[in-house]
Amino acid sequence: MANQVAGIILAAGKGTRMKSEIPKVLHEVCGVPMVELVARAMREAGVTKIVVVIGHGAEQVRARLGDAYEYAVQDPPQGTGDAARVGMTCLEDWEGPVIISSGDTPLMTGEALSALVTAQAKDNASAVVATVRLPDPFGYGRVLWDNGRFSGIIEEKDATPEQKKLDEVCVSVYAFDAARLRATLPKLQPNNAQGEYYLTDVPGIMSAEGDVVITELYDDFALFTGVNDRVQLAGASSVLRNRINERHMRNGVTMIDPTSVYIGLDVEIGNDTIVFPDSHLEGNTVIGSNCEIGPNIRIKDSHVGSGSLVHHSVVFDSKIADMVRIGPYATLRNGADIGPKVKLGNFVEIKNSRLDEKVSVAHLSYIGDATVGEYTNIGAGTITCNYDGFAKHRTQIGKGAFIGTNSTLIAPVSIGDAAIIAAGSVINRDVPSDAGAFGRSRQENKDGWATRWRGIRQGKEQ
Ligand code: UD1
Ligand code: CA
Repeated sequence: MANQVAGIILAAGKGTRMKSEIPKVLHEVCGVPMVELVARAMREAGVTKIVVVIGHGAEQVRARLGDAYEYAVQDPPQGTGDAARVGMTCLEDWEGPVIISSGDTPLMTGEALSALVTAQAKDNASAVVATVRLPDPFGYGRVLWDNGRFSGIIEEKDATPEQKKLDEVCVSVYAFDAARLRATLPKLQPNNAQGEYYLTDVPGIMSAEGDVVITELYDDFALFTGVNDRVQLAGASSVLRNRINERHMRNGVTMIDPTSVYIGLDVEIGNDTIVFPDSHLEGNTVIGSNCEIGPNIRIKDSHVGSGSLVHHSVVFDSKIADMVRIGPYATLRNGADIGPKVKLGNFVEIKNSRLDEKVSVAHLSYIGDATVGEYTNIGAGTITCNYDGFAKHRTQIGKGAFIGTNSTLIAPVSIGDAAIIAAGSVINRDVPSDAGAFGRSRQENKDGWATRWRGIRQGKEQ
């Protein structure tokens, strides 16, 4: 399969410094696991087949990433060179370039990887080593040169004091020629400070055998930031967040204060939408154009149509049509399906319900497992009693109905078109269209009762 590019992601390490039950590479940056970010960069660079080397937490990684990848299990972990050898078992017949990267470099871009692939092809190199210059290279493998020719990489733990002063470092991202990599991996020896098989030794061995080995030096070292603990995780998230916000702003989205806007990598936003501070847009969320989003909202896996306004509210797994007004303090969840021009006000919760065009639920209501027809008005304090302690039941409300304030609708129940429910009603029987329903006790006024009552009370207290 010449010309196609394969990729190997090294992700078998434990990630001890994360202090986590979750494998390190599954920790998320802007809503996407680090290892998937690496894989996406690879795909953008034209990689068609990706092998993930797993070990620690193998099943968790496999379950999360699914079957778009091939997996090779490294057990026990014996170093990055051993991990690459294990990965290559899935690429036995592969010819052409193989990119290898560790799984904990979430800021890497497709563009950066493409440069490696291009360099490899141009010089027909056996290895291209991605490098950066660091003001503080501590901990990284240093690149060694011999009269202008690449001669190897020395790990921090194996380096002499002189070598430790070198500032060009290996960032654990490479493009190899598959055949040469396959031929060189068995030559690795674990004769180093850590007793491991080092992938970093491969380019040195190739160079010693007369192969073309080159480095690709990147100016922007942030591209290859490795994440080893939660501080670095937050740092990487902040860099990616800036990139995401910048992309949206360049696409015509206004952000009042981008430093307080948190948008997942896969979120889409239409132009002329304004995003106010403290807005969190997550997962597979799509926001239309001309919306006002925020302040103070969390919207996840939801769709918001154009011209809608959502503020101080929480929206999960829901669909909101155009020109809807939501908030403050509304909760939409589990398949709330909100039609155009609907109004949902403060302390309103909508769950698994369809509200047609121009429905108004302005205050203090719970609508769960219901359908509400167009133009219906739901008064303050209306509750659909959808749960009887054992099962959920549905409430059906027709169009143009008026549900009086503080109504209790005990499901399963159906209210016909244009029906009127008197305020304070408890409704447990179906209401026909155009009917009025009075589900409350009749009021009784007793003349002079208040005066007599006060007399009794005051008499007692004297
Ligand atoms: C490695 C490089 C070092 C480089 C640095 C950049 C080696 C020997 N050293 O060091 O030159 O400067 O990255 O960040 O390669 N992994 C496995 N199996 C193993 C060991 C590691 O899959 O047996 C994976 C880890 O999950 C990780 C990646 O390989 O994703 C890198 O391993 P790590 O231990 O972090 O290498 P460094 O010490 O950072
Ligand atoms: Ca590392």
